[in-house]
Amino acid sequence: MNIILVGFMGSGKTTIARILSRRHSLRFIDTDKLIERKEGLTIPEIFDKKGENYFREIEKQLIQEQLKYCDNCVIATGGGMPCFFNNMDRLKSIGWVVYLKTSFEVSKKRAMLSKDRPLFKNEKRAKDLYDKRVGCYKKAHFIVDADKDKDITVAEIEKKLFGEGL
Ligand code: S3P
Repeated sequence: MNIILVGFMGSGKTTIARILSRRHSLRFIDTDKLIERKEGLTIPEIFDKKGENYFREIEKQLIQEQLKYCDNCVIATGGGMPCFFNNMDRLKSIGWVVYLKTSFEVSKKRAMLSKDRPLFKNEKRAKDLYDKRVGCYKKAHFIVDADKDKDITVAEIEKKLFGEGL
């Protein structure tokens, strides 16, 4: 069984995936980290030097060549991953896809705090991207409100995936 977290930048995919991995003895995978390791470059460097299209191709390959062999993993995806090619369908065939739904304001606050995000440099463009992506994210198996505290979000995911018992 795999759990795959999707959602906009700053929705908490990495944080929530780490907690779920500890609580359920699942292997933690972060697709951005795998790509950085494979390319020997940071995400901003890949965008700068090779361009976004190249990055999207690498994401697609990662799903087809690595993620599909995952078992008992919790996967934090990059914010755009499910919205290119037929990646969402492929992800849904690999595991339970959970959309961490955040408001733009909360995403913005969190995204600004942490790592360098090439697509969050301009707020207006980031908002347009957010609006454009919502329809894609909604195709996930489950939708969870991720504006709240991380423990509440984790509990909601567990309730949806494992039932009331946990
Ligand atoms: C992107 C989100 C980033 C990273 C890249 C592109 C996007 O991941 O994959 O900067 O297109 O939304 P996070 O969602 O972890 O920030």
